[in-house]
Amino acid sequence: MRILPPGPPLPALLQAGLIWLDPTRFVHTCHRRYGDLFTIRIPRIGTLVYLTNPDDIRSVTRGDPAIFHAGEAAAPLCQVTGTQSLIILDDDKHRRSRGMMLPAFSGDSARRQVAEMVAITADEVARWPVGERFPLFPRMQRLTLEVILRTVIGVHDESRLAALRAALPPMLEIGSPLELIPPPQVLLRFGIWRRRAQRRAAALALLTDEITRCRADPQLAQRTDALAMLVRSVDGAGTPMADDELVDQLVTLLLAGHDTTATALSWAFERLTRHPALLHRTAQAAADSDDAWLDAVCRESLRVRPVVFEFGRKLTAPVQLGGYQIPAGIILTPSINLVHHSSRHYSDPDEFRPQRFLDQRPDPTVWLPFGGGVRRCLGATFAQVEMRTVLREVLRRVELSPTTVPDEPVRPRHVTMVPRQGAMVTVRRHIAAKSRTSLYENQRTQV
Ligand code: HEM
Repeated sequence: MRILPPGPPLPALLQAGLIWLDPTRFVHTCHRRYGDLFTIRIPRIGTLVYLTNPDDIRSVTRGDPAIFHAGEAAAPLCQVTGTQSLIILDDDKHRRSRGMMLPAFSGDSARRQVAEMVAITADEVARWPVGERFPLFPRMQRLTLEVILRTVIGVHDESRLAALRAALPPMLEIGSPLELIPPPQVLLRFGIWRRRAQRRAAALALLTDEITRCRADPQLAQRTDALAMLVRSVDGAGTPMADDELVDQLVTLLLAGHDTTATALSWAFERLTRHPALLHRTAQAAADSDDAWLDAVCRESLRVRPVVFEFGRKLTAPVQLGGYQIPAGIILTPSINLVHHSSRHYSDPDEFRPQRFLDQRPDPTVWLPFGGGVRRCLGATFAQVEMRTVLREVLRRVELSPTTVPDEPVRPRHVTMVPRQGAMVTVRRHIAAKSRTSLYENQRTQV
């Protein structure tokens, strides 16, 4: 049996460069040329076998987690998250931490945060200028950071919020992929590594302070934020998380939940403003609190513009897949983007058409924006509740202008794929509170 699927016969460095420059074109070209499975080599990361067939992907996400290691595949992230982060753990350690963290991200927990999300969105939108084009992405970053600070870390004191707002984004910023490569010890005192260490130390001190305050809070038992739930949680042996582990999990939640959700929201507005009839229909749905339509818009946006293009599982043992005997050490890489854009699974896959998800749940084998299996995104429900809430509250508060400007291309940013111009939008006007529910009465458009 053959060992590895075919792939481009280019030096690994060149393959890395091509992926970085235009990830969409490179993997689409490989898919067309080599078929459902293909192999790409990236220096310092390893050999990646891309998977695009839902049956192959399912056998990986539902396979034995002891063989398909997601933590090992994500290991470079530990430069940012720390070594006890859920994202980089595997096996028993992963099961333990995930079990302790899941309740804080259940549907009920997410829904308890909606009022806070509404207030944060209202504050943010009130500052948007009228009649000038501006990039939405930085605004969405500010908004989703605020959501995490208040609902995940549970901070409400204005001076502590200000300190966290200043310290956390620089710690999460991965300026170049170089920063994810573990440097030799001696280099830690120089250049980007020294700056990273300084930023990290300042941010961790603030997070540790929040944990100390949380433990001492007389209201701890009543608090509904994720940090309070994590502080209260214990593992199967009755042991709670130690402070250093809690810090790593908070950094993880910030890294995994801040820019991702900001990007997803930016794409939703980028898509809507290029489809005037859908924009009107969504604004009407916002006015009517028609969650079914709002959810369909979010799901379709995550399909047509997935925020994360792929996820990884490093093999600890050889596996047979698609006619190959793939050896241990290879990183299997299900391609979210290629599955979402395949005409085998979606008619007119490049079209933005929320109707496909109206009143029906997406098929989890071909709708993968949050990955799959026991490593599926911990914050998937939280993110979808947040997306729906922000979409609704923005469109209740401002009228956005549709645009005929060409679609924004996709640009890689860390592990996410963002709109290259930052999702430029123009606010036509702010909507007064009293006219919010009736504004779109006369604009109902058949879509
Ligand atoms: C639209 C927004 C988001 C997208 C597209 C997204 C996407 C993903 C993806 C693709 C993975 C990898 C899954 C896999 O390997 O199977 C992941 C993992 C993860 N995400 Fe999200 N995510 C989003 C928002 C969030 C939020 C809001 C949080 C928490 C506040 C979060 C926390 C995590 C964590 C902790 C993991 C690691 C889970 C584990 O290893 O067990 N994510 N996410």
